[in-house]
Amino acid sequence: MRYGHFDDERREYVIDRPDTPLPWINYLGTEAYFGIVSNTAGGYSFYRDARLRRLTRYRYNNAPFDVGGRYLYVRDDATGDFWSPSWQPTRSRLDEYECRHGLSYTRIASARGGIRAETLYFVPLGETLEVWRARVTNERDTAAELSLFSSVEFCLWDAQDDATNFQRNFSTGQVEVADGVIYHKTEYRERRDHFAYFACSEPLAGFDTQRDTFLGAYRGWDRPAAVERGAALDSIAYGWAPIGSHHVRLALAPGESREVVFVLGYAENPRDEKFDPRGSQTLNKRPVIERWLRPETVAEGFAALGDHWDRLLGGLRVTTPDADTDRMVNIWNAYQCMVTFNLSRSASFYESGIGRGMGFRDSNQDLLGFVHMIPERARERILDIAATQMATGGAYHQYQPLTKRGNDDIGEGFNDDPLWLVLGVSAYVKETGDETILDEPVTFDNAPGSEAPLYEHLRRSLRYTQERLGPHGLPLIGRADWNDCLNLNCFSDTPGEPFQTTENASGGAAESVFIAGQFVLAAKELAAIAELRGLTGEAAEYRAAAEKMTGVILEHGWDGAWFRRAYDFYGHPIGSGENDEGQIFIEPQGICVLGGVGLDDGLAVRALRSVAERLATPHGIVLQQPAYSSYRIELGEISSYPPGYKENAGIFCHTNPWIMIAEAMVGNGDRAFDYYRRINPSVREAISEAHRCEPYVYAQMIAGRDAPAHGEAKNSWLTGTAAWNFVAITQWILGIRPELTGLRVDPVLPANWPGFRATRAFRDATYEITVRKAAGATGRVAYLIVDGERVDGTVAPIAAPGAVVRVEAVIEE
Ligand code: BGC
Ligand code: NOJ
Repeated sequence: MRYGHFDDERREYVIDRPDTPLPWINYLGTEAYFGIVSNTAGGYSFYRDARLRRLTRYRYNNAPFDVGGRYLYVRDDATGDFWSPSWQPTRSRLDEYECRHGLSYTRIASARGGIRAETLYFVPLGETLEVWRARVTNERDTAAELSLFSSVEFCLWDAQDDATNFQRNFSTGQVEVADGVIYHKTEYRERRDHFAYFACSEPLAGFDTQRDTFLGAYRGWDRPAAVERGAALDSIAYGWAPIGSHHVRLALAPGESREVVFVLGYAENPRDEKFDPRGSQTLNKRPVIERWLRPETVAEGFAALGDHWDRLLGGLRVTTPDADTDRMVNIWNAYQCMVTFNLSRSASFYESGIGRGMGFRDSNQDLLGFVHMIPERARERILDIAATQMATGGAYHQYQPLTKRGNDDIGEGFNDDPLWLVLGVSAYVKETGDETILDEPVTFDNAPGSEAPLYEHLRRSLRYTQERLGPHGLPLIGRADWNDCLNLNCFSDTPGEPFQTTENASGGAAESVFIAGQFVLAAKELAAIAELRGLTGEAAEYRAAAEKMTGVILEHGWDGAWFRRAYDFYGHPIGSGENDEGQIFIEPQGICVLGGVGLDDGLAVRALRSVAERLATPHGIVLQQPAYSSYRIELGEISSYPPGYKENAGIFCHTNPWIMIAEAMVGNGDRAFDYYRRINPSVREAISEAHRCEPYVYAQMIAGRDAPAHGEAKNSWLTGTAAWNFVAITQWILGIRPELTGLRVDPVLPANWPGFRATRAFRDATYEITVRKAAGATGRVAYLIVDGERVDGTVAPIAAPGAVVRVEAVIEE
């Protein structure tokens, strides 16, 4: 069952009923001011940091959920009937409803009793504000006397404090209302120099800024007293809960339409110019508000946003026989990668904006999905991340976006982290050819004076692994590797203790086969970079190190039919036929093959067969089997989840593309593509009532076969799944892969495809690619025709800037 449909032409998902299984959200903002917005206008906004500069409130565990947002109320003043044109929060019956989630904007339209209201929400480029453009139309054949009320609930800036420190916060709220603009200025009179404003393009009939005056005692957002009464009380909040609400009266003739613009924004004042007049307690206001209340500015701003997305998405366009592939690659998967770049793991319907900084491993992987769209920002991001690396080569697990410093609370010791830097930088250099990044001086642990070239950071990343090997010669796992929940040194029996940062046991030597495979991959990548820099000897050393680690994996990491996962504190294997549960894990099957382990001796194919037999389900590939049925103190968080959820045998979607890539590497296009489609959200749209999350973006997890709701997705939007699926489909299945020497075109396609076409921007040139395939053929491209000339192999050489290069590839058998 579907709750809407894709409008590919307009790059929108159109939701046609408000009661989706979960709030289906979208993101506003692309630079510094962001918000989440659901299909019923729920959500909140913030400036740069979702915890510290939260503009509006949101309660995650409310019932009903997703109440709190950017709400309008329409009231028919003749009858007193009122409703929310976004359905929530009044949830009144609507005659029509439609929500269009587009690229950084959302439009919600509905009609009731002959009154149509359509609201467009977006954040203009270059601004720290959001626009709500409401259009109200009288479709009756009689005149209508209407009231329109707006509403937002202000957050007192620090979202964590706002949700907990009530003894203070009920007494700090302050607002100011001038010329119809509501200013939220809590703490502005003391140490803050920033404020929020909420403005309206129409003359006001009234306003409210005190929540309980607007709502009335013991009432919720579904039945505000002011709306019911049809009049605001011009309340001025003084403590308690400051809100912003404008009341506008609209007299509409039959057929008449009126546009009302609301602007909610964030502003800062220079400290010595905070007050106007000086010494008063009155805010120094900014003129930007006036501009954005004008319909022409709004129209131009919205058009500019569309151009921005044209530019970003224009770098890769594919036309394949599969509509779900096209729309994910061309629109939604790319969009999700950009959102993940902007938000990291901070704010979604599952991430409260309070908890997590930027992850070292997460950010490095995220950039695989957006480096082709915004290489300059990928460069910046890499340098920021690398500057938090320790001199030992180790890495803070997270850093804070505002300070760009490593997070001491979590610290280091996630032993896979440093290797992701090598993979991130390698992807960047392949995409851009910009070798200068390798010479950039970058600090260790942000300490001035400790600068070393970025390339030296990469060296130390590898060395970090090499200097931390366990009894089998496999890398020590530390607090955890990619799987944050495999906590082999934690041994926690105390409720609430963090699994990742608590170590109750010492002296063990838990090892990770995952890190071993990742090391092989990273060492080979760094060898290629060393070669590029003329460091042949060093390149040879890295290759030898990869070779040696491969040997260790084959000796101690192979279980007979698949790769083992790890060795625990006591040296017992995990992910082995010897175990009663957790016999086979997905991660090492993926990463070892990506590193090339088992490609020439059949082990890769054997491991992938085991994945197909033991882990694959119709809803995707589960993380491990059998699921852990009870808590295992020696394994940690993984066994804390009920079977089938999250790392305990959920379909952890991040890992599935590794298997797709591995299948492509062994030449199995049908299986790679089949796996791709199993978790592709657009394909799963047809089972939305079971999938439940948004059908336009990937979710971190789909419940595994051990969970009662097998197939139900959770934790949508901010996940490494976005980047890796993008890589799997575009670089491995479609096979368009940036490399140091050029653009490789080496697809591994489903047998029944006749080929596909693509346009790919690469190093300032445009590649027009046509792949033709004989029906039923399952082989590989043997050579390319580049601008009419035959090129042996599958790499189209780097072209002159501005060139349009025609690449033809044929798969004959
Ligand atoms: C989740 C992991 C996540 C970790 C981050 C755990 O609760 O299950 O997926 O990586 O938290 O700290
Ligand atoms: C989500 C985390 O953000 C990521 O870093 C981790 O690799 C996965 N969970 C798996 O635990």
